Amino acid sequence: ASTLGASAAERGRYFGTAIAGSRLSDSQYTTIANREFNMISAENEMKLDATEPNQNQFTFGSGDQIANWALNNGKRLRGHTLAWHSQQPGWMQRMEGSSLRSAMLNHVTRVATYYRGKIYAWDVVNEAFADGSSGARRDSNLQRTGNDWIEAAFRAARAADPNAKLCYNDYNTDNWSHAKTQAVYRMVQDFKSRGVPIDCVGFQAHFNSGNPVPSNYHTTLQNFADLGVDVQITELDIEGSGTSQADQYRGIVQACLAVTRCNGITVWGVRDSDSWRASGTPLLFNGNGQKKAAYDAVLAQLNTG
Ligand code: G3I
Repeated sequence: ASTLGASAAERGRYFGTAIAGSRLSDSQYTTIANREFNMISAENEMKLDATEPNQNQFTFGSGDQIANWALNNGKRLRGHTLAWHSQQPGWMQRMEGSSLRSAMLNHVTRVATYYRGKIYAWDVVNEAFADGSSGARRDSNLQRTGNDWIEAAFRAARAADPNAKLCYNDYNTDNWSHAKTQAVYRMVQDFKSRGVPIDCVGFQAHFNSGNPVPSNYHTTLQNFADLGVDVQITELDIEGSGTSQADQYRGIVQACLAVTRCNGITVWGVRDSDSWRASGTPLLFNGNGQKKAAYDAVLAQLNTG
């Protein structure tokens, strides 16, 4: 097929992008996004600070703008994200202990209930593990409520939206030999063995020269899938340009297609100028909306296998 979404669909997968609400009035942006992608993540608009700016006052206007654009254009939605140490509203940043635990679970319940039936997969918990070699949980106000906060969030999400896939999502979990990857793996293994409701693991896949695409990427995806969860590439971007960037993108697509339970790939933005990496060129379209070599490589690989 001739677009990313249609080509991925022929392989039983999706190809998605993050959408920023502020760009929905840019017709070049919406034309590309609508043509190429069939899974949509809100880049910021469903996060905790956006959806619960004051405790127990929920605001879904910005999230709905993206959800409606996606659903009206026949696309599926990835929910991002219900519980995270970052982008918490001020009132939550100042909370600790059992009141924070209750507020977090209330947030998960209310947001997942509001979007019930509209979400293909939720990033229930985002970025809960520390970087580096410790393999430990990241210190945060949520972690300090007790090590079981993650499973509590997953149980609340399952009760609120039984049909959404529930995912754990993180970055720098791509290299199988890294301590952070191993630590997330052990958590998922533990959840599966104890019946904690988890359906999928999201690999953010933000790559750059200091964090290149590892040669064992396929091994990582396959090992997680073998635990009995789906795996998804959720926020892909790769710094660089030209052939080198295109080759790395091709490798990611190849790795996903080689794993039966790798359901799809989402890139974290449409054009380079839309990326959170303000000065970089990590995406598939340049700032003028033209297809890059990386785009051609991804499309060709989706159509090859
Ligand atoms: O909307 C305000 C605007 O009103 C204000 O004038 C401006 C001034 O700084 O800030 C705007 O908010 C910014 C927001 O993006 C929208 O553009 C925030 O400052 C900025 O921090 C926020 O950055 C987002 C970042 O998450 C925050 O953690 C990026 O857009 C978003 O791409 C990025 O996405 C994360 C994923 O959620 C999780 N994984 C990593 C990924 C990349 O960092």
